[in-house]
Amino acid sequence: MTVARDDLADVVVPEHPVPTAGPREAVLAIDRIGLTANNITYAVLGDSFRYWDHFPTPEPGRGIPPVWGFADVVESRAEGVTVGDRVYGYYPAGSHTVVQPARADARGFRDGAAHRRTLPSPYAVHSLTGGDPAYEVEREDLLVLFRPLFYTSFMLADFLVDHELFGAQRVLLSSASSKTAYGTAYELHAQGVEVVGLTSARHVGFVRGLGCYDEVLGYDEVGELDPSRTAVLVDVAGRPGLSQDLRTQLGAALVHEVGVGVTHQVASVAGTLAETGPRMFFAPDQMQKRSADWGRERLDATFAESWRRFAVEAQGWVDVMGGTGPDAVRDAWLAVLAGRLDPRTGYVLTP
Ligand SMILES: NC(=O)c1ccc[n+]([C@@H]2O[C@H](COP(=O)([O-])OP(=O)(O)OC[C@H]3O[C@@H](n4cnc5c(N)ncnc54)[C@H](OP(=O)(O)O)[C@@H]3O)[C@@H](O)[C@H]2O)c1
Repeated sequence: MTVARDDLADVVVPEHPVPTAGPREAVLAIDRIGLTANNITYAVLGDSFRYWDHFPTPEPGRGIPPVWGFADVVESRAEGVTVGDRVYGYYPAGSHTVVQPARADARGFRDGAAHRRTLPSPYAVHSLTGGDPAYEVEREDLLVLFRPLFYTSFMLADFLVDHELFGAQRVLLSSASSKTAYGTAYELHAQGVEVVGLTSARHVGFVRGLGCYDEVLGYDEVGELDPSRTAVLVDVAGRPGLSQDLRTQLGAALVHEVGVGVTHQVASVAGTLAETGPRMFFAPDQMQKRSADWGRERLDATFAESWRRFAVEAQGWVDVMGGTGPDAVRDAWLAVLAGRLDPRTGYVLTP
């Protein structure tokens, strides 16, 4: 599936024959992918954060949206990669992809394709289901939907606690109904941090029902926030005007702001965030820090432990919506793009 870079609702589903593997290559059949607001952010930031560069298309002005999910190796001419292997990774929204496996071991491999070498390395990792401490076959759908988001939540909560909440008494999370926000709230809440969720009026009931926020307010209710208590804003979906409203309401009590995503497709917001890079939270950066502090094994084990705790709760917070084929992927893309989904809905699709 390709989209116009300047009009994400302009979707084309080109027909291609199933690719074959060249020397040292493998073909993956993409089996199950998730589609959430996060995928829209990848497209909004496609140029500035180079998300279009992972899966380039020769069509000028268009891009292939990246997605996360499970894939099966269906042909391999690469050492250490076997037909039938099942991997989790970052894929183009389509039915197949060709990779050039490198550093294959019991945990999986990396795509060593030349064009990916200058892109952040976590996106090139293909994790074998058998080598992943967080993998459970009966929770594949939840992993498809939540894994990249909960990894961000886990890292974001760790980043905030690591920075002692930038001296604030509480954390304000916008787009509180999003999976990334409530995963973060869950992690912070478990560590005793006070968390306030801000959301659309129509999602207040859903967010309150989750039980991982100490307080939940609609975007139109931020005037009720107590300006005598300090706060750090974690702006999860880049809602235009929200940060200004909070600055007005809280003044100096708003001690710090962290940008996380830009689902709201506003070029100026995306541009500002791209220009002010350090303000924008980028999970791979904190992951790199913790890999250095703790070592990769401890990081993976700590994540797996948090994931298992969270998954037990989260399975009751989402209704998985399935679908098969390119039309199902296109329809889901358009629904997420339009922001008209019930926050309980989570798309898990076979492209
Ligand atoms: N920086 C990183 O490393 C990183 C990693 C993962 C995710 N993120 C970001 O976190 C955000 C949430 O992602 P998610 O996948 O967790 O979302 P999700 O579960 O699909 O979120 C659904 C919620 O997001 C808001 N929303 C959804 N579609 C929207 C649209 N088209 N326009 C405006 N708002 C929309 C609404 O929340 P409310 O009604 O509550 O506002 C909606 O209930 C995204 O912006 C994503 O890019 C960033």
